[in-house]
Amino acid sequence: MKPNLLDYINQYKEVIQKEFNHCLENMDIPQQLKSSMLYSLEAGGKRLRPVLLIASYQAYQNEVSKVISTAAALEMVHTYSLIHDDLPAMDDDDYRRGKLTNHKAFNEATAILAGDALLTYSFELITNDPSLSDREKVTIIKMLASCSGPSGMVGGQILDMEAENQPVSLDAMERIHALKTSELLKFAIYTGAYLGKATEEQLAHLKTFAYYLGLIFQVQDDILDVTGEQEKLGKPVGSDEGNRKSTYPKLLGVAGAVEQKEKYAIKAKESLMKAGAQDSYLMDLTDYFSTRDH
Ligand code: IPE
Ligand code: IPE
Ligand code: MG
Ligand code: MG
Ligand code: MG
Repeated sequence: MKPNLLDYINQYKEVIQKEFNHCLENMDIPQQLKSSMLYSLEAGGKRLRPVLLIASYQAYQNEVSKVISTAAALEMVHTYSLIHDDLPAMDDDDYRRGKLTNHKAFNEATAILAGDALLTYSFELITNDPSLSDREKVTIIKMLASCSGPSGMVGGQILDMEAENQPVSLDAMERIHALKTSELLKFAIYTGAYLGKATEEQLAHLKTFAYYLGLIFQVQDDILDVTGEQEKLGKPVGSDEGNRKSTYPKLLGVAGAVEQKEKYAIKAKESLMKAGAQDSYLMDLTDYFSTRDH
């Protein structure tokens, strides 16, 4: 019988944490940099992106050892994006994952460099993985660069900054959220399925799934910034209002944002069925992303 989703998430959370320790503990790098990288990696976090990558692989294959380094690399890129997102020049937040933000615990220069180090090391980690062929490595690295860089997450982050204090349309909001959030989820879902040998047609449907899943995830993040609790979230509530961000609740109201999220969920699930992955944990994760309270 399929274990429940929370047990599944917890199982792989541990695997990913072990992978971080294995990679970083014996690395001969400047101590302050290592401490700062480990500080944010060990702060916890839900680890949803690596779990998504593993679940996507398992929609098509059984054993998971082939994807663990890549899943850890993805979480490093995500963690870097959070360290930089919290900086005074960006969202200027003091708490993340239940602890002081990296720049508060260390200093701004160290936080910037820890972010840079996590980003670049993630690519090295993929190249070091003996279970991937050279062709697989190049494909994965290209996808990670494109999903996290100017045409992906970083592009979305600047649009998010530019939209502060501006009226934006629903289409413009979708574009911001798709770039800043869906793109990294797309990396997780696409790469898992690609390594799992999904067909081109299945991969195309999974890209559409990732697009809507990212919107669901970020709409819920925006809603929780209004209705959530700091103790559960591990990060401040009201940050978006304080920064005059353009968010779904601001544009549509909380009830309107919930309605919009449900429309995205229908589209996400349709794509998942077309990809033949409706019995996998990707389906359970879609509901979890939409209803999570942290
Ligand atoms: C926060 O991501 C950033 C967004 C894209 C909304 P998560 O909510 O997955 O953060 P962690 O990894 O659990 O800390
Ligand atoms: C950030 O979105 C998404 C990233 C690419 C880091 P938010 O600014 O809404 O994320 P939180 O709410 O600080 O986690
Ligand atoms: Mg932000
Ligand atoms: Mg933020
Ligand atoms: Mg947010």
